[in-house]
Amino acid sequence: MKHFLDIHTTDKAELRSIIDQARSMKTARNDRPKGAPDDDQPLAGRMVALIFEKPSTRTRVSFDVGVRQMGGQTMVLSGKEMQLGHGETIADTARVLSRYVDLIMIRTFEEATLLEMAEYATVPVINGLTNRTHPCQIMADVMTFEEHRGPIAGKKVVWIGDGNNVCASVIHGAGQFGYDFTFSGPPTLDPELQALEFARAQGVRAEIVRDPAKAVEGADLVIADTWVSMHDPQSAKERRHNQLRGYQVNEALMAQARPESLFMHCLPAHREDEVTSAVMDGPHSVIWDEAENRLHAQKAVMRWCLGV
Ligand code: CP
Ligand code: NVA
Repeated sequence: MKHFLDIHTTDKAELRSIIDQARSMKTARNDRPKGAPDDDQPLAGRMVALIFEKPSTRTRVSFDVGVRQMGGQTMVLSGKEMQLGHGETIADTARVLSRYVDLIMIRTFEEATLLEMAEYATVPVINGLTNRTHPCQIMADVMTFEEHRGPIAGKKVVWIGDGNNVCASVIHGAGQFGYDFTFSGPPTLDPELQALEFARAQGVRAEIVRDPAKAVEGADLVIADTWVSMHDPQSAKERRHNQLRGYQVNEALMAQARPESLFMHCLPAHREDEVTSAVMDGPHSVIWDEAENRLHAQKAVMRWCLGV
């Protein structure tokens, strides 16, 4: 069973093959209309359940469109409307869904929910974001970097802000794709040590530099994300903003990175908080390609899961 649960728990060579397939599938579509089918229909006859316990725009639409382009069918389920949200166990939900669908994608809160779903499902399960990680995002980010700048191995990737779920997956990506990683944010919002240790164990640098201007020196890629994630209490907002005010990605900060550096953000962004519009809409930014590549990367992830 090939679940896609995390970057660090998926084999390096297989991650690379998924990125390669995503690139060739993107090229093969050759800008045809979004609703037009791919030439091969690898998901013909397959049914995919997309479960959301949190809001989503990109993940929801890109998975749905991706399945349809590959000839499969989807059902988008909201956790709240399922019995799952009213006391049915995750294990029982997994067992039942496996009798109806060929693949399950779930966006949830606790990582334990994802892992339990994978344990009891008899079909592959894909992590569409948990409080802890967001592996599909990093597949799209690596693909996007390489489209613009060639191999990401050996490059310097800098995360500015909150050491959150997306950050953890970027760190896992350092270990698996061979780039160096620098985190810059306040000590109270450091990324999890386990992720940094995983990356270091793979032989790449994974460091913390508090001063954001120093952190981005020599950066090939600068990444920001929201200062308050969906799993954070809204009451944390004001405190977060106070803690992170010095960690905004703006033109002055980008000027400290390499001239050819790229800027990414998984989106949704809060313009003028974690990043200015001047950077989001400026020459370093590849955020729209990054968003588009969610589609291509996840199509390749689904094919890998199903072995088709
Ligand atoms: N980046 C991302 O996962 O966006 P959504 O929350 O809109 O799915
Ligand atoms: N860190 C953000 C990412 C959203 C795609 C969150 O979890 O809300």
